[in-house]
Parts: sequence; structure tokens; C-alpha cells
Amino acid sequence: MINDFIPKIKKEITQISTENDLMNLKSKYLGKKGEFTVLTNSIKDLSIDEKKTQGPIINSIKKEIESLIGAKFKLLKQSSINKKLSEERIDISLPSKGSSYGSVHPISQVLDEIVNIFTQFGFEVFEGPEIESEYYNFEALNISKDHPARDMQDTFYLGQGSLLRTHTSPMQVRMMEVNEPPIKIISPGKVYRCDSDVTHTPMFHQIEGLLVDRVITFANLKGILNEFIARFFGKDIKTRFRPSYFPFTEPSAELDIEWKDKSGNKAWMEVLGCGMVNPKVFDSVSYDSAEFTGLAFGMGIERLAMIKLGITDIRYFYQNDLKFLKQF
Ligand code: PHE
Repeated sequence: MINDFIPKIKKEITQISTENDLMNLKSKYLGKKGEFTVLTNSIKDLSIDEKKTQGPIINSIKKEIESLIGAKFKLLKQSSINKKLSEERIDISLPSKGSSYGSVHPISQVLDEIVNIFTQFGFEVFEGPEIESEYYNFEALNISKDHPARDMQDTFYLGQGSLLRTHTSPMQVRMMEVNEPPIKIISPGKVYRCDSDVTHTPMFHQIEGLLVDRVITFANLKGILNEFIARFFGKDIKTRFRPSYFPFTEPSAELDIEWKDKSGNKAWMEVLGCGMVNPKVFDSVSYDSAEFTGLAFGMGIERLAMIKLGITDIRYFYQNDLKFLKQF
């Protein structure tokens, strides 16, 4: 009777296809009230001699049952793994979705190009904070208390004497404060003004230039900027220095270029502000203006990019429309 267990279990095991059924089978035979357990419990009623002969047989049968169940368990595990793997199979013959490459934003492209030109002229890049103090943004640059640029409508004030810089000119002061002449730097970065229409965004980019040495003249200013325009816009572009006013330069000028619009009409386009460093700015950094002179200029990157790329609405740059951005 005891010898019937093995063939019976073997037969049942072959029918089983889930771990759950296997567990049920296990408890049917080996559980507390399992058929085999009940049988083995009756050993205690046998005589000592019978125990000696039956004991090892029962034990070996129990081991065999356990090993049959164990083997089936492994088999079920493996086949469920195989099933999973086959479901996860990747069809490498499917055509790919393709990948797309990012590209440098047109504003960054133009900025890099301008920085490159001035680097070739021997200018070094010096960058600084976008959160600026009223002192660097206005006072040290000789911008009086009643100057319109200080108006709440133009400037983002942050309180406690801080603001978002309205131009990169504070970098002139920051540079001269900690360095002796000669100085030859450009300072690219973001600037902020409360202003928004087709040609203005509240955040835009400028590049500041500053050159200070013993005999810097307006001729140097014209030479450098004319050469810059020739390299950036092309050799044949006409330029014009038109008198202007900035509190931190004296004399001051705006540089215009002669530009053809899409229908071929020529017009003067303002591209940047510039001038000779005002001695008052030298005073605020304790430079001797009898010994040193300097030139400075500042240009808006978006403006230069719009002219060069023929874009009429500045807001295109910041709408992140890939159809627009991919053209450049
Ligand atoms: N900071 C001026 C502006 O934002 C530009 C400028 C820079 C003019 C340096 C003169 C010299 O308009």
C-alpha cells in the first residue's frame, strides 16, 4: 500500500501546470492531515522490530515525494520565466522610430559668433550676476536718481537695493573695481526690463565691451566696431556713428548700419550704443582719468539676430516652436 504512493503521485504531478495546484498536491500528501503523513503517524503503533524495518522505507519514500515535488516546482518556475521572456522579445526587424538631434538656439548661435569675433580681437570674457545692486546698475555708472531708466516701469526691483540688471554695463564697474588697466573685456549675459512687444521681451541678452588703457581714443572705438560689423554682417555694410547720450560715456554714440529690408529698401538700423568712458565712472573705481581713457559699447543680441536672420517678431525666439528653431 505504501509503495503505491510514488506511482500515484508521479501520475498526478504530470497533470499539474500551476504552482498553486502543486502546493495543493503537496499538502494533500505531506500536510498535517495529508495522506502520507497520516500513514507515517501510524508508525508509532508498530512493534519495535517493525519500526526498524518500516521506518527507513517510509523515510525514503517521503524524501522521494519531496524531491518529485521540488523538481516539478523548479520546472514550473523555469517555464514561467521562459514565458515571460518570450513575451518580452524585441523584434529587431521592426523599422526604428528614428532619433532627432537637438541644436544650438539661434540666440546662442549669434552670441557665440559675436564672442568669437571679439575674442579674435583679444578681448577676454568676464561674466557677472543678473541680480545686481542699484549701486552697480545705476549709481556707479553716473545714472542720476531721476533718470527714466530707474523708473519702476522700466526696472524689476527686488527690494533692499537689489534689482534685475537692466543692462550689462555694471560689469564695467565690477571689472575696474578689482583690476588695474589695461583692461580689455567683453561681458555677455541676460538683462531685464519691464517691456514687451514685437521688438522687446522682458528678458534679453546683451554683450558689453570695455577697453581701458593710456591712449584709447574715439578712433579706436570706430576701428573696433567697424571691423566687428564687417565680420558679423559682411564687408560691404555701411556704418554711421550717430551722436547720442548715455550717462556713463562721454561723448556717446549709437552705431547704425545700412540694411536692406526684404523688399530691397535701404534703411539705417540702430545696432548698438557706445562711447568713451565718462571720467565720472573712473572716479567711482578710483582710476585717474588724467592718465587713462577708455571706450565702451553695449549691444542687444536679439536685435542683432533679428536683423541678421530677418526676423520681425522677437517673441519667436522664446516660443520654443521647433518649426521656427529648426530653420537655423
Ligand atoms: N548700456 C547701454 C544700454 O543698455 C549700452 C551702452 C553700453 C552704451 C556701453 C554705451 C556704452 O542701452
